[in-house]
Order: sequence, then structure tokens, then C-alpha cells
Amino acid sequence: MLVGSLTTRPSSSSVMMIWQPSREVDAPLGLSVLEIAHRNDVDIEGACEGSLACSTCHVIVDPEWYELLQDASEDEEDMLDLAFGLTATSRLGCQIIITEELDGLTVRLPAATRNMMQR
Ligand code: FES
Repeated sequence: MLVGSLTTRPSSSSVMMIWQPSREVDAPLGLSVLEIAHRNDVDIEGACEGSLACSTCHVIVDPEWYELLQDASEDEEDMLDLAFGLTATSRLGCQIIITEELDGLTVRLPAATRNMMQR
């Protein structure tokens, strides 16, 4: 159960985020959702390493959390247009930076993704 582990955070400089359906991970403040995914072996590519030149870090944010995020930039919107499985709450994981307000942020991976490493 997810709720019980809220008290086991490793430090006060991090919050908790949830990869749906049920994976809870430590989310250090100031890191991007993409960086946190890579630290936790979440299967997301991030081919351009956060320079807004791909859409391989596409994540779908739980609607409850989506409104708390800063608005996407025009460049992010342009890249999102290239993502497979775009939804109304899609964002690029490299552009979501963890803050204290995002404690409990819940995201999931899209069913398909544009993988730059596959030919
Ligand atoms: Fe390429 Fe996020 S990693 S846009």
C-alpha cells in the first residue's frame, strides 16, 4: 500500500512520487521526472537528455496533479505534438522539475513511445 511508506522518505530534500500503477519512488527536489525515472530504472528513454529535441521522455500526468505543474513552454508543446499517445495531461518528463508542492506527484508512461534508439 502506498500511503504507509510516506514516513520513510530518505531526506527532507526530497518528496515522493508515484509511477502508476503502484511504484513509489524518492524524488529529490530540483531533479526532473526524467532524471528520477533513470535513477529508478523506469523504462523511459530521454534521448536528448532534456534539451527539448525529442519526445522520448513523454509521460502522462495524473489529472489531479497536472494543474499544479508550470505551464509547458512553446518548445515543449511542439515536441509533445510528436509524441505517440498524446493525452490532455501529457508532458515531457525532462521539463517537470520536482518541488515540495509536487509531493505525491503521480505519472504513468504512455502505452507506446517514440524510441530514438530503435531503427
Ligand atoms: Fe528529449 Fe525530454 S529528453 S525532450
